[in-house]
Amino acid sequence: MAETSSSEELVLAFLAEAGDEFVSGEAISGKLGLTRAAVWKHVNALRAAGYRIDALPARGYRLAEVPDRLTALELRPLLDTHDLGRELHCYDELGSTNDRAKELADAGAEHGEVVVAEAQTAGRGRRGREWVSPPRRNLYFSVVLRPDLPPARAAELTLVASIAVCDAARQAGVAAGIKWPNDVLVGGKKLAGILTELAAEPDRVHWVVIGVGVNVNARAEDFPEELRGDATSLLIERRRPVPRALFAAACLTGLEGWLDRHAEEGFGTIRDAWRERSVTLGREVVVRTEGREIAGVAEDIDAQGALLVRGRAGVERILAGDVTLLRPR
Ligand code: BTN
Repeated sequence: MAETSSSEELVLAFLAEAGDEFVSGEAISGKLGLTRAAVWKHVNALRAAGYRIDALPARGYRLAEVPDRLTALELRPLLDTHDLGRELHCYDELGSTNDRAKELADAGAEHGEVVVAEAQTAGRGRRGREWVSPPRRNLYFSVVLRPDLPPARAAELTLVASIAVCDAARQAGVAAGIKWPNDVLVGGKKLAGILTELAAEPDRVHWVVIGVGVNVNARAEDFPEELRGDATSLLIERRRPVPRALFAAACLTGLEGWLDRHAEEGFGTIRDAWRERSVTLGREVVVRTEGREIAGVAEDIDAQGALLVRGRAGVERILAGDVTLLRPR
């Protein structure tokens, strides 16, 4: 992957920040301490890298199109975060971003380091399932976190992540909701999944890796036939592709915001936000857990994020399991 100079990134960040507005060459050179000739050189290098940058003599430059790639060059200028993504590890292909993030975490990666891949050859879902990860269509990333939490509370972070991904999908214009614990659905079909893994001692978390897979621009034919009835993508729902770098930035920025609120305000705030986005609560469900099936109405999540299902034998508290929603609403 070609390296880009940091001045080029600064020029790009400046243009990205201006959004749809033109910015003069003078403003860019003044702000960044570059000559006008250097600005021109960097603009041309960015164009060669696939950015479309409009230039008008009296008005300056405007970023018209960002290439649909997920490298640090695209992502960094779009990130409005203090920790998440300050260190980005971007790959064309990996087995699994979670596996790479776990290796990095074991080797001392810092809180907020992010691994992104254009494709996964061994993408993993919950319960040992495969996560279909075709190249250059979707978003696959994992974040290394070093939270100040006892291991028993680490599962809360999965709910935090589901809120951020649900919000990013809603911002992209689809009516997303969360199925317990952390599947993001649109119209009953799966748009995104989250796989959380951790290393801990009995009283202390070493690291948590949150892996997020979002079906962004996948077409129906990108899913194996047996999944087509159960999976969807932003492209399928909106009928227009989504710029993946912008969507990734929205997920990471949102995730950091909700992580901050979790750290400052505790799980109560997250529980309320999760309830507001839930498509599980109030529904008749069947939950498969530890070889058992529990049928009933999903009433709530408790202060630990466990699902409370009222069945024939009273309320059951479920810590992990697969929920099937019965009867569409
Ligand atoms: C699920 O719903 O089963 C969880 C899916 C998680 C998929 C993501 S894609 C990025 C990260 N790397 C993986 O191998 N899995 C997660």
